[in-house]
Amino acid sequence: MAHDNLFESVKMGTQTLKNRIVMAPLTRLRAVEPSDVPTALASEYYSQRAGSGLIITEATQVSFQAKGYAGAPGIHTQDQTTAWKTIVDNVHAKGGKIVVQLWHTGLVAHKSVQPDGQAPISASDIDVGVRTSLRDSDNQAIRVAATPPRPATLDEIKQVIADFVHATKCAQEAGFDGVEVHGAHGYLLHQFWVEQTNQRDDNYGGSRDNRARLTLDVIDACVDAWDADHVGVRISPLGTFNNVEAGYDEDESIWMIEQINKRGLMYLHLSEPDWAGGTPYNDEFRKNIRAAFDNTIIAAGGYTVEKAVKNTSAGFVDAVAFGRDYIATPDLAERIREDVPFNEQHPDSFYGGGTEGYTDYQFMNQA
Ligand code: PHB
Repeated sequence: MAHDNLFESVKMGTQTLKNRIVMAPLTRLRAVEPSDVPTALASEYYSQRAGSGLIITEATQVSFQAKGYAGAPGIHTQDQTTAWKTIVDNVHAKGGKIVVQLWHTGLVAHKSVQPDGQAPISASDIDVGVRTSLRDSDNQAIRVAATPPRPATLDEIKQVIADFVHATKCAQEAGFDGVEVHGAHGYLLHQFWVEQTNQRDDNYGGSRDNRARLTLDVIDACVDAWDADHVGVRISPLGTFNNVEAGYDEDESIWMIEQINKRGLMYLHLSEPDWAGGTPYNDEFRKNIRAAFDNTIIAAGGYTVEKAVKNTSAGFVDAVAFGRDYIATPDLAERIREDVPFNEQHPDSFYGGGTEGYTDYQFMNQA
C-alpha cells in the first residue's frame, strides 16, 4: 500500500518529527511501588520503539494524590525524574523523540493507593461504578472496584494545578521533548468537564465555561511553566470511557478545541471513540476539527495503516498514534515502511509483570 506520506516529517511546536507514526500512551503498570519510579526495563521498552516519530509515555502521575492504579509511574519526585532522564536519554540516543503524558486519575482510583488511604478526589461525589487496578504478590494487575470519590475543595483544585506545574518542570529537567496534558477518558480533568460527574456550584461547575475551567487552567499553568511549543493536550470527544460520558457533543467539542487553539499548543491529540465505544467521527466533524485547530493534530483509536494513510492524506490529521500494535511490534514504523506484518498481541501480559510481553516482542529481522 502507498504509505509514503506517513514518512514525511511533521512539525511539533518548534521541533520536527521524523515521521507521522506515533506511539500512543499505553498503561503497562510495571513501575516500582510505592515510589512509582519507572524501571530500567522501561528504558529498554521505550528505546526499542524509538523508530516512531514520537513516543508518548504511559499516563504518569503528577503527584501521589493523582495515582489511581498500582504500578503506574509518577513524575514528581527526584528519583522518578532521574529514572525518566535515563529513559529520555536512551530514546534520544536512538534518534527518537518522547513526551510524557501527565495525568490525575480523579475517581478512577482505589483508596489503598491514595495518600493516607483517603477517598480519591473528583469534581463531585458521584460514583460511576468504575474499576481500577491493584497488584497481586506476583506484580500482576488485578481489577477492583474504585473507591467512591469526594469533591475536591478549592484548595485541592489549586494544588492539582500546582502539581501539573511541578510535573512539567520535572519533565523539563528529565529532558523530555514536551508534556501532554491528559484531558481525556474520564480522568480528573474530564470529570470536571462532564455534567454527569460535575455537580459543583462554584467557578468549576455549572456552565460550559466553568466545567472547562480546570482543563484550561491546567493547560495555561503548564504553558507558563514551560511554553506552548512544549505542551500538548489529549481529549476524547464523543467517547465514553471509564463510565464517564463524553460530555462533548460535536458543538461542545469544537468549542473546546477553539479554546485550546487560542493557547497555541504544540499539538492536539484526539482519542477517537472507536476503540472503546462511542460515535465514530464522520468527515464533516473531522473537517470542523481541522478548521478549529491551527497546529499539529494527532489522532488515535483503533487505527489501521489504511485509515492512517486515508486521514493524513485527506489532511484531517497530521499524525496517527498506534497503541496496542506498538506494544506487540517494537519496530512498527519500520515494518509499515517495509510492508512487513505486525506481531500478534498478547493481552494477558499488557498490565503488570516483567519482561514477558514488555521487552521480548521480536523485531522483524529477529523472527
Ligand atoms: C487504562 O489503563 O486502561 C487506561 C489508562 C489511560 C487511558 C486510557 C486507558 O487514557
